[in-house]
Amino acid sequence: MAKTMEPKSKTSERMAELTEKVQGSQAWNSIFRPGSIFRKGYSDSPRNRSYVIMNSVLYHLHPVKVKRHAVKVSYTLCLGGLSFFLFILLTITGIFLMFYYRPTAAQAWNDIYTLQTSITFGLLIRNMHRWGAHLMVLSVFLHMARVFYHGAYKPPREFNWVVGVILLTLTLLLSFTGYLLPWDQLALWAVTVGTNMMGYTPVFGDQVRFVLLSGKEIGTDTLLRWYVLHVLFVPFVTVIFLAIHFWRVRKDGGISGPL
Ligand code: HEM
Repeated sequence: MAKTMEPKSKTSERMAELTEKVQGSQAWNSIFRPGSIFRKGYSDSPRNRSYVIMNSVLYHLHPVKVKRHAVKVSYTLCLGGLSFFLFILLTITGIFLMFYYRPTAAQAWNDIYTLQTSITFGLLIRNMHRWGAHLMVLSVFLHMARVFYHGAYKPPREFNWVVGVILLTLTLLLSFTGYLLPWDQLALWAVTVGTNMMGYTPVFGDQVRFVLLSGKEIGTDTLLRWYVLHVLFVPFVTVIFLAIHFWRVRKDGGISGPL
């Protein structure tokens, strides 16, 4: 019995030696910062628990300590988090769609049609993207209503409310610029109506319409312009404002308390 145990303990001895060597190496310590549970000699002290949160690229988004009401799902209904989740989902499904879609008047609708009928999971991903977009508009609106209902727009959070209004505008812009891309009748007439309305802007109406259409009437140039706005410009600006929004939630003292 003792003889059969010996090789096993030797193996575990070697494993322990190897672990010690790896954990003591410069490469290991350059990846895992002080206080990490993966560092040599980690102990479960309050200081190290704080470090685990502060030094992790994912955990540091959360404060080390949160108030009890802030983690209650029934307080925020997680509507801000849901809006962010939908934004991520739209980014991932949108990248998939980009593999198959070319933004020209001759190809756009055909590409969408082929995507739905011939590409594996094409219809599913397209519908996830479309429904996700509708849901995001709804969840951002409901999140805003929740914030208003809780009076969370009051000082010191009034600036974050303004950032939120910008995010709502960007969400609507993302939705509207995406509407044209399938290049079907719905898209064409929705954008014709929308840009005609913007053409009534006082003083600069014609110029606004010209810039939006990239010409005098809707065509391939409009499609390219809206495509670039939809997949690059507006998401880029949105990410910047999301970062400011989340940072301010933390800096303004976390989620507002119950009234
Ligand atoms: C893309 C859109 C948006 C995203 C992803 C987003 C995300 C978030 C998240 C994750 C929180 C943390 C609390 C929670 O989940 O409710 C939050 C808080 C907050 N948001 Fe938004 N938000 C967006 C749009 C808006 C809009 C449209 C407004 C208002 C006009 C707004 C105003 C605020 C304020 C004032 C807080 C602090 C709330 C509190 O302390 O209780 N946000 N947001």
